[in-house]
Amino acid sequence: MKICIVGTGYVGLVSGAGFAEIGNAVVCADVAEAKIDALRAGQIPIFEPGLEALVERNTTQGRLTFTTDVAAAIAQCELVFVAVGTPMRPDGGADLSQVDAVASAVAQHATRECVLVLKSTVPVGTNPRVRRLVAGASHRVHVVSNPEFLKEGDAVADFLRPDRIVVGVDPDDTFAREAMARLYHPLSLDQDRIVWMDPASAELTKYVSNVMLAMRISFMNEIATLCERVGADVHHVRHGVGSDVRIGPKFLYAGPGYGGSCFPKDVSALVHTAREHGLELDLAVATDQVNRRQKGVLFRKLRKHFDGDVRGRRIAVWGVAFKPRTDDIRDSAALTLIDSLLSDGAQVVVHDPEAAAHARARYGDQIEIASDPYEAARGAEALVLVTEWRPYQSPDFERLRAEMKRPLLIDGRNIWSSYGLRALGFSYEGIGVRGT
Ligand SMILES: NC(=O)c1ccc[n+]([C@@H]2O[C@H](COP(=O)([O-])OP(=O)(O)OC[C@H]3O[C@@H](n4cnc5c(N)ncnc54)[C@H](O)[C@@H]3O)[C@@H](O)[C@H]2O)c1
Repeated sequence: MKICIVGTGYVGLVSGAGFAEIGNAVVCADVAEAKIDALRAGQIPIFEPGLEALVERNTTQGRLTFTTDVAAAIAQCELVFVAVGTPMRPDGGADLSQVDAVASAVAQHATRECVLVLKSTVPVGTNPRVRRLVAGASHRVHVVSNPEFLKEGDAVADFLRPDRIVVGVDPDDTFAREAMARLYHPLSLDQDRIVWMDPASAELTKYVSNVMLAMRISFMNEIATLCERVGADVHHVRHGVGSDVRIGPKFLYAGPGYGGSCFPKDVSALVHTAREHGLELDLAVATDQVNRRQKGVLFRKLRKHFDGDVRGRRIAVWGVAFKPRTDDIRDSAALTLIDSLLSDGAQVVVHDPEAAAHARARYGDQIEIASDPYEAARGAEALVLVTEWRPYQSPDFERLRAEMKRPLLIDGRNIWSSYGLRALGFSYEGIGVRGT
């Protein structure tokens, strides 16, 4: 099939390369010239495991191309995917201006009957809004809601082997339904993964999934605080609770608060949508409140060790990405920590295996960036682990102690809690764990 993906970011690039991998002719379009130039030169603008090889194979074999000419890309395709950003507006709702711009471009440039597929995360009601925008097109434009569930860090595997493919299409729109069924058939060969529904339910399903996951995290973060008050250990509680098959073990990890480009904005957007319909989603509101408080937990823990004053202290931060295996720092808990440290006059030195360039772009020379984790720790009065990258999981603690000016470890991911660090001379604090 001839497919155009508008928006070549974390979702658009993976989707484009994934659709090309199963034999389609895909053109990825974006208004960001530098990004498209880089892709044409064989450079991948984001870090995503497995993506480089996928893009290279499909460009070399002629199924995947890149352009800044969005109009021309739309004109030649039977399926146009919208994968642009839907960031949070100041009032908490989703900013749909990029989606509207693409819909208007499709209305103007479609040269045949085609399907416009909403892959961006968009609030319920966006499908009919986009239909109104394309109603004046010279050819019929069918509008389908097909939210994306891939996870950064595992995006390629998630895209090619999804748990489910949610497709929201009007029951009487056989043209769109057949196009989507044909498109996704290769990803559903071993089992039928397509979950058909109406567009409003599809739009809502995406938000409910993310808010449900965010809720589990916020709940466990509150329980971690309770564990600290009562002398329990959230590691054991998580294990015990998650062993119940009705609950399951995933997304029960206490930590520095969820971040990334999806959970914070999606929780907020769902609350906003409900309010527009006269409904207060108390659980989602609380999820967000708990998370905002939790984002300050690392700084609060750290400051306590310096009698509330970190001015002039050299603090090392391991991990800036919002989670491992991505270079995405959007809404990362590390940013909240670094911002607080800088505003209180600390010296900040960070290390991240993949996100250093983004940290540099955000902070300039306000922070130091080390090329090696031990170099970051050199002379530091505390080391805060924010992102559980693999190389941080079992470091040489003797070397670390020798490098650090003061052996204080704040472990935002509870991965060092059982390593006997106090016996090695460290002060150790995790999130709701006792530590040894
Ligand atoms: N990142 C994720 O893990 C993830 C997962 C599932 C769903 N989503 C959703 O997918 C959408 C995209 O997210 P992302 O992380 O890929 O965003 P992103 O910021 O990485 O990419 C968006 C791209 O769209 C481009 N763009 C903006 N306006 C454009 C226009 N008018 N024409 C062409 N290109 C335009 C931007 O230049 C950018 O390259 C969002 O709605 C997000 O919530 C993201």
